[in-house]
Amino acid sequence: MEDTRPARVPEQLEFVPPDYFRRLEGHEIVREGRPLEIDLGCGDGKFLLEMAEHYPERDFLGVERLLGRVRKVCKKAAKRKLENLHVLRLESRYTAEWLLPLESVSRLHLLCPDPWPKFRHHRRRLIQQEFLQAVWEVLEPGGEFLFKTDHPEYFEWAVEKVATFGKFERLDWPEDAFFYPKTDFQLLWESQGKTLQGLRLLKAK
Ligand SMILES: C[S@@+](CC[C@H](N)C(=O)[O-])C[C@H]1O[C@@H](n2cnc3c(N)ncnc32)[C@H](O)[C@@H]1O
Repeated sequence: MEDTRPARVPEQLEFVPPDYFRRLEGHEIVREGRPLEIDLGCGDGKFLLEMAEHYPERDFLGVERLLGRVRKVCKKAAKRKLENLHVLRLESRYTAEWLLPLESVSRLHLLCPDPWPKFRHHRRRLIQQEFLQAVWEVLEPGGEFLFKTDHPEYFEWAVEKVATFGKFERLDWPEDAFFYPKTDFQLLWESQGKTLQGLRLLKAK
């Protein structure tokens, strides 16, 4: 059937918090009763757009620090007439630690983040104890944190940090567990013969 809804204006799809210096209330970010999914570092948005299309009953927020990428994703979402996708231009750690409402996120995705391979840059990696605590606090009970990387050493780092943190339960994550489209970077890495490893972590109820 032909979709006769008017196209959306891309600027309306950028999520601008009413105040950057306080935590959001649930109702300021998600429509009543709808599960919220966050994609930290959404890049050009292939994963986010496909998820929003596949799950119209869920709300999606991409977080991305580069303005050009934010605009690109908003433009594509407007063209596809998606009403359940917004993009926030902000730093991921700040967003998780200070902005997102507590116990409000159904799934939080961190896919192919920069692995910061040099030892002296490891402190820039997102996965650290404070970040895991922040993710745990914004997830609702039963919510999940999903992480994928092509970088074996970063994967081991994440496994160790998660074990030290101790509050998540690691779940199996077979490829066919649920709809989970490949990201732009995943396709790039796989085209270069690299394989990805993933962690699926549950915040118990
Ligand atoms: C390697 S790309 C991965 C993009 C996408 N997740 C994918 O898998 O195709 C990392 C993305 O995260 C963004 N990014 C990196 N660090 C960030 C941060 N601290 N806060 C927000 N965005 C960040 C980058 O601008 C880039 O778009």
